[in-house]
Amino acid sequence: MDHEQRTIMLDVFRYLPEQEEQPRFQSYTVPYREDWVVLDALNHIKDQVDGTLSYRWSCRMGVCGSCGMMVNGEPKLTCAAFLKDYYPNTIRVEPLTNFPVIRDLIINLSRPHYQSGRFSSQVKRTQDVDDSQGDESGFGR
Ligand code: FES
Repeated sequence: MDHEQRTIMLDVFRYLPEQEEQPRFQSYTVPYREDWVVLDALNHIKDQVDGTLSYRWSCRMGVCGSCGMMVNGEPKLTCAAFLKDYYPNTIRVEPLTNFPVIRDLIINLSRPHYQSGRFSSQVKRTQDVDDSQGDESGFGR
């Protein structure tokens, strides 16, 4: 029997604006599972490899929009972007463009940016973001 564990590599945007002059990419190798989405891979990194990685997510059902990131240059909900659609190639994960970066993959969703429509136009969502959740929904996962 073949018990070899398949893996996939993620190049993840890392940036602490208050400490670093330039962003950088950090490579992580994670287990490849057909039913995993990019958010599962990020959660694996956060839980098993590097607890300093910062990003947002909340509903994990393609509803809230908080997990929106650039995946290989395209805006995606990472809870709905399956690894199998990229395997075996490396997946590059970056913050959504046109938003200030707070830390790593966390962008500033302050009202002016939010209400400009840039956020919703980048990421296809199944319903509007619940404004009552504010900026902190799923913060730091
Ligand atoms: S966590 Fe992905 S849309 Fe809510």
